Amino acid sequence: MTRHLYVHLPFCAHRCGYCDFVTVVGRKAQHDAYVDALLAELALECELLAPDVETIFLGGGTPTFTALHALERLLVGLPSAEEVTVEANPETVTQELARMLRGLGVNRVSLGVQSFQPRLLTVLDRVAQPDTVRRAFYHLRDAGFDNISFDLIYGIPGQSPADLESDLGEALALGPEHLSCYELEAKPGTRFTYEHGEGLVRQADAMESYFELVVATLTGNGYRWYETANFCREGDRDLRSRHNLAYWLGRDYLGLGIGAVSTIEGRRWRNTPRLRAYVEQLEARELPAREHEPLPVDVQLRERVMLGLRLDEPLSVDGLGDVIDLSALERLERLGLAVRSNGSLALTARGRMLGGGVTADLLA
Ligand SMILES: C[S@@+](CC[C@H](N)C(=O)[O-])C[C@H]1O[C@@H](n2cnc3c(N)ncnc32)[C@H](O)[C@@H]1O
Ligand code: SF4
Repeated sequence: MTRHLYVHLPFCAHRCGYCDFVTVVGRKAQHDAYVDALLAELALECELLAPDVETIFLGGGTPTFTALHALERLLVGLPSAEEVTVEANPETVTQELARMLRGLGVNRVSLGVQSFQPRLLTVLDRVAQPDTVRRAFYHLRDAGFDNISFDLIYGIPGQSPADLESDLGEALALGPEHLSCYELEAKPGTRFTYEHGEGLVRQADAMESYFELVVATLTGNGYRWYETANFCREGDRDLRSRHNLAYWLGRDYLGLGIGAVSTIEGRRWRNTPRLRAYVEQLEARELPAREHEPLPVDVQLRERVMLGLRLDEPLSVDGLGDVIDLSALERLERLGLAVRSNGSLALTARGRMLGGGVTADLLA
């Protein structure tokens, strides 16, 4: 049984060039049927869900592009939970939507800001302008949201260090409780990569310095760098994303909807990404088509190390001995990239900055 539920809402008004998530453009006429399918999948899988759900995360796509009455029906049909997050695109956040979300138990909103520079928003095919972001933020605050997160992207073609400083400054001026800052990933072979090839190559060389700028600026302004790409305001409340922490700590989770992944008791599966097949199967009260991924114990342990070392809290190495290369660990300690103490292991700030490469070295 798991206490963490992910629900995928794939609909978007349009497709942004850099995006590789499972999304479907428009299809307003199918939103209701999709929500019915989600609730049917939940009913079929309800014995996997603990009675006291801790976190629910509605991700997308653009959950807040879903027809309002359909989104409302979904929220009413979900169990209650201690943390309920909804991802929102700024241009979809009206006063009405913000009030509806708050009224139905949503207590955290993750806003896809990406940048505050109009020309970089154009490069990313974004609809929201900086003023749209500010308006969305104040609608959420007015509706009573005291836990708002911003997503920012750096390494956008044409972005300079001064642009990034300005983005961070604009975000800090609004004072969200949480910030996720992602390095732009461009998939080879996509239209975006083809159109921005040179700009992307130029940015690749600057990524490390952008990352350093992000960490220095946010930690210098009272945010805790608690995960490689995630920061939360320090204070009397723990403002880390409890849902994402569950992933990083290797807890089980149930995912509903097209393309959604679940990991429960050593089994992992991914739902079909095809909307029509998903809806039809659930209309027939059958589980959707799924891909099952074998998860042998050593793979589970490796994932624990890879994800656990992204956090700023030490990882207990109890039971992880077989997948850690002790001579590599000693070398990394000598280089000041990792530290061991009392049965736990952590990366130093420099080690976290270098990230995945250091962790890969550690794995036997
Ligand atoms: C599920 S996505 C999109 C949520 C929402 N529809 C939006 O566009 O704001 C969540 C976040 O992932 C990040 N993201 C999406 N594609 C990315 C990419 N190619 N590289 C880096 N970050 C990306 C963006 O910051 C985005 O807000
Ligand atoms: S709105 Fe978000 S999920 Fe939809 S295409 Fe753009 S980045 Fe992807």
